[in-house]
This record gives sequence, C-alpha cells and structure tokens, in this order.
Amino acid sequence: MPDRPVVFVLNGPNLNLLGMREPDIYGSDTLDDIAAMLDDRGRELGLEVDLRQSNHEGHLVDWLHEAQATGAKAVLLNAGAYTHTSVALHDAIKGIRTPVIEVHLSNPHTREAFRHKSYVGMAAKATIAGFGPLSYLLALEAAAKI
Ligand code: DQA
Repeated sequence: MPDRPVVFVLNGPNLNLLGMREPDIYGSDTLDDIAAMLDDRGRELGLEVDLRQSNHEGHLVDWLHEAQATGAKAVLLNAGAYTHTSVALHDAIKGIRTPVIEVHLSNPHTREAFRHKSYVGMAAKATIAGFGPLSYLLALEAAAKI
C-alpha cells in the first residue's frame, strides 16, 4: 500500500500520440510530460498519481473497477474518442463510488457536433476541458479537495 492516497489518471485512445498528434489542437506536450507534471504536483498535494493509457475500451473499464477495488481517492478520466461513444464507460463510472472527473485537453463543445455528446460527462462528478495539459492539473487540484 502506498503511503499517499492514489489518484488514477486514465487516458484513452490516441492519447499515447500526444506531442505529435494534431499539435494545433492538443499542443506539443507528450503524455510523459503530463505525467511528470502531475507527479510533481501530486507529491506537493500528498497524492500518488497512477497514470495509465490504453487504446482499448475494456482496459479503461477494468481500471475504473480497479480504482474502486483498491480504494483510489479519485479518477481523472480522459477517455478520448470513447467519451462520445461508450455506454460501457458510462455504466462503469455509475457502477463505482470513486469520484470520476472527466478531463479533456480541448473543449469538445467548440468542435465537431459528434464531440458534443459525452457519455462520460453524463456519469462523471465534474468535467474540466479546454485548458490543454492544465485541464489535468486543475482536475488534480480538485481531486485533492474532494
Ligand atoms: C479529447 C477530445 C476528444 O473528442 C478526442 O476524441 C480526443 C481527445 C481531448 O482531450 O481533448 O481523443 O478527449
């Protein structure tokens, strides 16, 4: 058992490509850069950050269950495109008591219409979007306080 409460930071499809993927939309930071930033701030806040990424929907479902089973303090979830399609993620969020904060680098509401619906957001405690990597940092600050 780690000494510090754990916050899961779960990332869905294509977020492994951050840094080279559509930098005009998602910026130049890689997921490793974001992980390092969250690790640093987590240490200051007394939190352990467990950041993961998968391109597979079921992995994200399993990790949400694991967050609850291991007593994680909160989950920050950027489900990527599964945000807009996944009833399975919606149900998994509803099925656990661990608070889930939806995170996006971009603001999906200012983009294509198919990004305006969020199955994750309809189940999550809150959403932080549109601040680039800062969205994750703001979500971590919130997680520390809930
Ligand atoms: C995203 C927004 C989604 O619409 C998109 O499919 C992504 C990234 C974001 O962080 O801005 O993969 O979740």
